[in-house]
Amino acid sequence: MVEEKENIKIFISREIPEIGLGLLKNEGFKITIWKEAIPVTQQELIQLVKKHNALLSMGSDKIDKYFLNECRHLDIISQFAVGYDNIDIAEASRLKIPVGNTPGVLSDATADIAFGLMIATSRKMFFMHKLITRGEWNYFFPKANLGIELRNKTLGIFGLGRIGYEMASRSRGAFNMKVIYCNRNQNREAEKNLKAEKVSFDRLLSESDVLSIHCKLSAETKGIFDWNAFKKMKPTSLFINTARGQVHNENDLIRALNEKIIWGAGLDVTNPEPMHPGNPLLEMENVSVLPHIGSATVEARNEMARLAAENIIGFYRAKTVPNILNPEALT
Ligand code: DGY
Repeated sequence: MVEEKENIKIFISREIPEIGLGLLKNEGFKITIWKEAIPVTQQELIQLVKKHNALLSMGSDKIDKYFLNECRHLDIISQFAVGYDNIDIAEASRLKIPVGNTPGVLSDATADIAFGLMIATSRKMFFMHKLITRGEWNYFFPKANLGIELRNKTLGIFGLGRIGYEMASRSRGAFNMKVIYCNRNQNREAEKNLKAEKVSFDRLLSESDVLSIHCKLSAETKGIFDWNAFKKMKPTSLFINTARGQVHNENDLIRALNEKIIWGAGLDVTNPEPMHPGNPLLEMENVSVLPHIGSATVEARNEMARLAAENIIGFYRAKTVPNILNPEALT
């Protein structure tokens, strides 16, 4: 039995752009938002969600088996992100809780960050900026501060979905980069439009001048970029990760950079997040780190808010969730 809309209570674990809130309010739902600066803990979230019918969640919420069983009354979870590695989807399906996400709308924003990190790292921009703020911009030395050019180099994409495609398209357009990719499925569109070539994981490692990560975090991809992988990369190569920090092993990455096994790294995601300010990566010349801002544009966040709201509205209006991750939960 679907309740009257004014009796339906939605809990939102962070304030989202007005466009999403407006849509939910127009439907007549009662909304509660977590407004503290520190994120809600799992225990707090459970207690709050127990008094609500639906949850609009963030990637930082731990929606594991325990949470789901404590909150098995939930009608729907709508995640404000494309990634959903914080949610036990199999358990949600078992409990018949549909889970939606916000795909597609943040591909440009995230690819821009990957592309930006590639250029910033190849020219040591973050470190050079730091030199100025430390008062260390002094004389001209022809052999100092040298970066690497990108024109005609090879870009390797690990996980060629929407974001990987946009990164490849930018890199090909701007620098005529040759695109190779490693993905479970063949991407015919990328092969046709970007002349991309599907290669094995080993070839991706050994042939890429820039290796950009765009896969989702799963048992298969967790820690896949470890010492063994870095050892197979070119000493002149750049490692770019805008997907999830747990896809690379951070200690192995630090060692690979220190021992000059690879040339540089650009990261928008770290493990853990937030990164500790004393992390050695932050002091390295050929490293650029950002605080997980891939989707942080007005356009992307507005669209994410809209899609996250529409997942909930669709469920209560017609038992459909436009961007559902576990359709089996609705059957
Ligand atoms: C996502 O949508 O998964 C992003 O990482 C959140 O910014």
